[in-house]
This record gives sequence, C-alpha cells and structure tokens, in this order.
Amino acid sequence: MEEKATIISLKHVAKSFEDGAVVVNDFNLDVKEGEFITILGPSGCGKTTTLRMIAGFETPSSGEILLNGEDISTLPCHKRPVNTVFQHYALFPHLDVYDNVAFGLKMKRIPVEVTDKKGNKKIKMQRLSNKVIDEKVLHALQIVDLDEMEDRDVGTLSGGQQQRVAIARAIVNEPKVLLLDEPLSALDHKMRKDMQVELKEMHKKLGITFFYVTHDQEEALTMSDRIVVMRRGEIQQVGTPEQIYNEPINAFVADFIGESNIYNGTIEAPKRVRFIGSVWKCPEEEGFELNEKVDIVIRPEDVILLPKGEGIANGVIESKIFKGVHYEYIVKVGKNEVLCRDTRNHEVGKEISIRVEPDNLQLMHKDFTINQYVDALIDNANNVIIGEDTFQCDVTQLLKGSSLDDQGYLVGPDGKKYDLKNAPVVAEVPLDKVALSDDLSIGQTQGKIISAVWIGDHWQYIIRTDDDEDFVVNSPYTWNVYDLVSIQIEKADILLRLKKGIEEYVID
Ligand SMILES: Nc1ncnc2c1ncn2[C@@H]1O[C@H](COP(=O)(O)OP(=O)(O)OP(=O)(O)O)[C@@H](O)[C@H]1O
Ligand SMILES: [Mg+2]
Repeated sequence: MEEKATIISLKHVAKSFEDGAVVVNDFNLDVKEGEFITILGPSGCGKTTTLRMIAGFETPSSGEILLNGEDISTLPCHKRPVNTVFQHYALFPHLDVYDNVAFGLKMKRIPVEVTDKKGNKKIKMQRLSNKVIDEKVLHALQIVDLDEMEDRDVGTLSGGQQQRVAIARAIVNEPKVLLLDEPLSALDHKMRKDMQVELKEMHKKLGITFFYVTHDQEEALTMSDRIVVMRRGEIQQVGTPEQIYNEPINAFVADFIGESNIYNGTIEAPKRVRFIGSVWKCPEEEGFELNEKVDIVIRPEDVILLPKGEGIANGVIESKIFKGVHYEYIVKVGKNEVLCRDTRNHEVGKEISIRVEPDNLQLMHKDFTINQYVDALIDNANNVIIGEDTFQCDVTQLLKGSSLDDQGYLVGPDGKKYDLKNAPVVAEVPLDKVALSDDLSIGQTQGKIISAVWIGDHWQYIIRTDDDEDFVVNSPYTWNVYDLVSIQIEKADILLRLKKGIEEYVID
C-alpha cells in the first residue's frame, strides 16, 4: 500500500487550565491524509480538549500542532482548513435544511483576481455566487443523503437527520480534516448503529481525514483505521482496532476495550505463570523476570470449557446468559470469576474445567503508577467495596455537576436520578495516597507488607490484605516485610469510573 502523507502532527502537545490541572500531557501523534482516526477514552480524559486545540478553540500550553508540516498552533480557527461537528449540534431552528447548510457559505468571502479599469490586476474579496452556493449545498446534502429534504424545517427532522444536517454543514466548506466530537451520542442505539455505517461511507466518499472522538469502544473498533486510547491526558496506545483489541499494552487498555478477564499473576518459571490458583503455560516473552508480578488478560472467547479435571483450573458454572450465537458463562474458580463464551449449553452449577491456549494469554508488566481495582462495586450507602473492604468515596465524580439527595440517589445537573447500588466500577488510588500505620485500630483495612523496594528517594511497599487484595504504597517511612499495618485512604483520593454507562442506573 502506498504510504500516505502526514496531514496533522501533534508534537509534545500539553494543555493545562488556570486551575493548574494538566488535562493533556505530552501528546504525540501523526495523522495520515484520508485516515479515520479515533481518540477513545473515559469521560474527562482530555479528548474534547485535544480536538479543540486542533480546531483552534484552545491554545496548547506547550508543544506544536502542524498541518502539512506548518505550525498552526497560533492560527485562528476560521483560518484552519478543518471543521468541527460537535456533540450538541446547534442548528438554526428557524431556517430550513438548505439554509442551515448554506449559512456559512453565504458569509464566506474568497480572494479572486480582478482587473480594474486601468488594467491593473488586484486581489478582491468576493462573496460566492448563488449558483456556486447552490452546487456546493446540493453536493453536501447528497453525501449525507438528505437531498430530498432541503426545504424541510430542521425542527421536524429526526435526531439522526438533524445530525446529518450538522455534518453537511461542516463538509460544505470542503475541509481537509473533519473533527467529530461524539457526534452520535445524542442518538438512540439503533440510530447510532445506522449512522456509524453511514459515517464510514461518507468518509470513503469524501476521501478526507476524519478525526473522531468517542468514549464508546465498540464505535471506535467498528469505524476507525487507527485508535488512540487516552487516559488522564496521556496516550496509552495507538494502533489499528485489531492491535488494540488483541495486544492491549496494559490492563487499562485491555479493560477499556471489549470485555476481558484481567488477573494478577506471578512469573513462576520460564514460560510459566501462576494466577487464580494454578500454573499456566504462557508464551516465551522477553523482559519478564522470575517472580515478577504481572497482569494477565484473557478474552472471554479464548477460554475453552472442558469436562471437570481435563483443563488447567477447575470451577463451577455460576451463571449463564443466552447471547444468540453463543452463551456467556461466568465460571467461578476459587473466588475468581472467569467470563467465557461457548456455543454449547451447560447447566448452572455444573463442575467444569477451563484451559487457555498459551498464545491467548496476554502478559503485561504491572502498571505501578496507580492502584487499580477493576472489580470494585458501589454499595447501598455509596461506599466503594474493594476486595471485601468498604471505603468511603465520592460518587458525584461519576457525573459532572451531580450531587446526592437525601435518599442517597445521585442527581444529575438535569435533575435525572441514578441508583448506583451494586454498580460495578473501576476504583483507583494513587500510590502516595495510602497511609500506613502500626495502630491497627485506625484505617479501613489491614494487611501484611509482602514487598519493600527502595526507589531512589522513597520506599515502595506492597501490602496484601486477608482477602488477597494488594495495595502498592509509596512512603518515606521504613517498615519491614511481614509487618502488619493498617491501611487508610481518604474519601477524596479514591478515583472511580463506571464500567457501564451512567444511563444504566437511571430511575424513574
Ligand atoms: N475550560 C476549562 N477550564 C478548566 N478545566 C477544564 C476546561 N475544559 C476542560 N477542563 C477539564 O479538563 C478535563 C478534560 O476535559 P475534556 O472535556 O477534554 O474531557 P473529555 O475526554 O472530552 O470528556 P467527556 O467524555 O466527558 O466529554 C476535565 O477534567 C475537565 O473538567
Ligand atoms: Mg468531551
């Protein structure tokens, strides 16, 4: 395949706002001409801010944004050959479809060379002729398949049709790059699916670069040439949908992209890793040390169900859901859950065994920048349960502008109520936000120090609780391995992320 030229380059781009928080950090990316690139990441990770810097609505605090090799960091928005489709597309309600799309063109002036009476050539700014506007609008409406509807009032259109008007309005200016910020999030599920296919076709027809932003992993996987996974302002991984899905670089990406089983493991011997109580064969990989703690990712479709005793680990089928082509099972192995898919029908309660081809075990170095608990739960008092321990937390961080009412329901800025009881969440605790004490009467839980490593100027400890949960802690104080310590975490230091969309929890 012929190598396409780079159209946009972001080089060491960073952005912080007045309050000092770093929202985008050292963002580096080259986007090819005609590419469909998607930024994917949880709410608040800096997707919109990145897009707004490319569009020119925000100025980077540092770094460069190049378009065809030229720095455009300080070029005003209207001079950039890009156009944006926002999540909340503001159409003009009093104008019909045609005029909504034509609006920008009617305002536009373009430089044309004219000869004055004395025969001198001059550059004059001229409006577009009605004929030219007409052609451009019709062409844009054809691309979004609305050419039959040019006279309709936009208020009478469906959500999907309105979204297509917003896209037509952006592409009518013939941008080199179309920036799309969660353009489908206002649509219902069915319409979203249809529009995904349509957007992909528009991308093909137009041949321009699409720079797309979403927090929906399925949307990213189905539409993109390449995906950029972002977390807290930083790029985690850039790759094709297949690379991101099959070879996630860390537990965050694996957990965010598609469903997966993630376990804590230990390298026991070359090509042998221990997790969920058994030793498994794994591929020979460079860079793992004996006894190293690793993350292990297994996709549900890679778990093979076998009769009891014939696999690597024995378990019991705890639940099953019929999914059409296959069943989805949760197999309980000790106290671990293994999500599996199988086309055969097994009964709940059946004793079974599981196996995974070594090549389908994805091993990753542990990301020790933060404690991450991927199967935490919110309880009925809005606390978070990590392992078997309860911690106070602030659930209002799960929805911008929300608060708690007297009954403990989360209330959104629009007044919608949510019941978060039993909501699965990913809880994270920074390494320097865990306080240790030898006074066991304080703190939410306690555990044994199983590892102590001196890292330059502080200790890094791993504390294991009774229920086998590990807390990694940075501390200036000296403790000994096997010391029993209490663990204390402040409410404000527990970061939460819902595993499902907030809409799952709406109550009427
Ligand atoms: N103008 C601003 N001033 C201060 N902080 C801001 C500003 N704009 C955004 N932020 C903060 O920057 C962070 C990233 O915001 P951004 O809108 O880029 O996230 P996002 O990834 O688009 O999230 P979402 O999926 O919710 O749209 C958030 O914590 C947000 O509160
Ligand atoms: Mg956003």
